[in-house]
Amino acid sequence: RIRIMAIRKILKFPDQDLRTKAENTAVFDDELKILTDDMLETMYSVNGIGLAATQIGIHKRVAVIDISPEKNEPLIIINPEVEILDATKKEDYDEGCLSVPGFFETISRPSEIKLIYKNLEGSQKEIKPEGLLTKVIQHELDHLNGRLFVDHISQLKRRRIRNKIVKQK
Ligand code: NI
Repeated sequence: RIRIMAIRKILKFPDQDLRTKAENTAVFDDELKILTDDMLETMYSVNGIGLAATQIGIHKRVAVIDISPEKNEPLIIINPEVEILDATKKEDYDEGCLSVPGFFETISRPSEIKLIYKNLEGSQKEIKPEGLLTKVIQHELDHLNGRLFVDHISQLKRRRIRNKIVKQK
């Protein structure tokens, strides 16, 4: 059976659907594989480095990430949990988001974390990421909790971004 991957529509801030908290996934089946294939295709089509299911209106705790230059090292994380290993260590990074296109803001996040997640087969995995990956993981986890990177900046700045995006529509 051949199935062509589909590019899904990415919801844009301030869409209220982006505020929904996603549910854990208990079933690791073909449907989940199709979802993650589509998410990767969608993310690559717009040169993204991370995409959460929430951003395409699917409220499952699933995210895809690929920070490799060649875009050939996909990381699929299901039911992810982040443990902060040292709350005193933080790093700044200029974050953007496919749901907030064209805007970048400096966000400070913990730099020492552990990620616990399930892979597509439902096996438990654990990694201690470094550098950019720590930021992307926390950004995607925010999405699954109904949060956006603009929630980390001032209300004034957030409202300005919101108004510009609404005007573009
Ligand atoms: Ni995002």
